[in-house]
Amino acid sequence: MFLRTLLQTASILPFLYTSASAQTACNNSPSLCNKAYNNITHLGTHDSPFLRNNSTSFSTSGNQYYDSVTQLDAGVRLLSAQVHKSNGTDGSTQWHLCHTSCDLLDAGTLSSWLGKIKGWMDNNPNDVVTVLLVNSDNASPAELGAEFQSSDIDQYAYTPSSSSAPQTWPTLQSLISNGTRLMTFVASLTPSSDFPYLMDEFTYVFENDFENEEPTEYSCNPDRPTSLTSPSQATESGRMFLMNHFLYSTQIFGIQSPNDTYVNVTNAQTGLGSLGEQIPKCTSVYSKPPTFVLVDFFNRGPAIVSVDTANGVTGAVGRKSVSTAAPDEPTSGVSRRQGSLLAVIVAVVVAVTFGV
Ligand SMILES: *[C@@H]1O[C@H](CO)[C@@H](O)[C@H](O)[C@H]1NC(C)=O
Ligand SMILES: *[C@@H]1O[C@H](CO)[C@@H](O)[C@H](O)[C@H]1NC(C)=O
Ligand SMILES: *[C@@H]1O[C@H](CO)[C@@H](O)[C@H](O)[C@H]1NC(C)=O
Ligand SMILES: *[C@@H]1O[C@H](CO)[C@@H](O)[C@H](O)[C@H]1NC(C)=O
Ligand SMILES: *[C@@H]1O[C@H](CO)[C@@H](O)[C@H](O)[C@H]1NC(C)=O
Ligand SMILES: *[C@@H]1O[C@H](CO)[C@@H](O)[C@H](O)[C@H]1NC(C)=O
Ligand SMILES: *[C@@H]1O[C@H](CO)[C@@H](O)[C@H](O)[C@H]1NC(C)=O
Repeated sequence: MFLRTLLQTASILPFLYTSASAQTACNNSPSLCNKAYNNITHLGTHDSPFLRNNSTSFSTSGNQYYDSVTQLDAGVRLLSAQVHKSNGTDGSTQWHLCHTSCDLLDAGTLSSWLGKIKGWMDNNPNDVVTVLLVNSDNASPAELGAEFQSSDIDQYAYTPSSSSAPQTWPTLQSLISNGTRLMTFVASLTPSSDFPYLMDEFTYVFENDFENEEPTEYSCNPDRPTSLTSPSQATESGRMFLMNHFLYSTQIFGIQSPNDTYVNVTNAQTGLGSLGEQIPKCTSVYSKPPTFVLVDFFNRGPAIVSVDTANGVTGAVGRKSVSTAAPDEPTSGVSRRQGSLLAVIVAVVVAVTFGV
């Protein structure tokens, strides 16, 4: 009897194993495991670490209400940031994540931020994450690579198989099985064989115009790299499409800040200039959905709904929910004004420095 039970158990074990692995989700859904990295749509946060919350006195320069780890928990799989040169208190060079200028909004060192992403990846072994860095002060591969090494995230880094855009990227499952779950793009840098995982963004990716102030201005046409002048050229180049989808507001002195008053439509499924209507427009231009969509205030909308639709994903698993509302801001507006005042001061300094 015991032996028979054991045999029965043993005979169903392979079935259990198969069914368990078939149910394993990659980037929150089993249906994505066998799709190529470039055949799915990844939700990206524009200026991921630049917060408009109480930690920045609700700075009007902030692009997100919730931090990068909360973004990952909620299903975001591409995080973008600007890297700037900054002086340490001892006068040493440091690489910080700053919005336009480190005097305006300084979100700390690149290595500290990468360390938080690495910690999240340790705890989420079936997820492929993309980091997109804007190399504002031309950090060298060695300087950026040192930050990846000190945060230990380099152990997850994927190295491309080709120095030009491949037509086919690995599936999520093969990236996961190989332990190379971190994709890193930098705009821009000269590739180095010492840090081969630091990919020059515009070698592999093209973007539409990101300078939009009205919900009628979005275009699907390639804008960068400037060598691409038509959608067909972009497709033939093999590059992946990153669809910028956010609005700026122009403040006094021409300072741009993210438009938060319209973002509930910008990131919604329907409405003028909504993500849910813009993705299908670009999908019909390129005969496939964008590989990445980049948004401000990702929790509004919420943007993930339109990305799930693009991926044909229903019943995503393993996400932590986050409020779709804007967080409460001080009603007096005192804290928020500090951010605007700082922006004005920086604008004045810039104007004096450049004589404009
Ligand atoms: C990726 O998509 C192309 C068509 O767009 C298809 O031919 C190919 O089989 C897909 N590959 C994977 C692994 O998803
Ligand atoms: C920000 O809000 C959190 C949660 O409400 C609170 O714990 C924290 O003390 C606040 N921090 C600041 C700097 O106000
Ligand atoms: C604001 O962001 C900081 C930094 O990520 C975080 O520690 C804090 O909890 C956030 N505040 C709220 C109210 O979420
Ligand atoms: C860093 O310090 C050097 C030397 O004091 C100075 O010339 C430079 O402007 C400083 N850079 C920044 C970004 O503060
Ligand atoms: C997985 O790693 C092996 C050994 O490094 C390599 O040959 C293979 O190309 C990798 N596969 C993918 C999909 O990256
Ligand atoms: C945001 O965009 C909407 C739509 O164009 C506009 O009505 C609104 O004034 C903008 N908000 C700000 C703060 O500029
Ligand atoms: C967006 O917010 C405005 C102002 O609160 C509101 O009037 C409008 O109905 C909201 N739209 C959507 C799609 O939620």
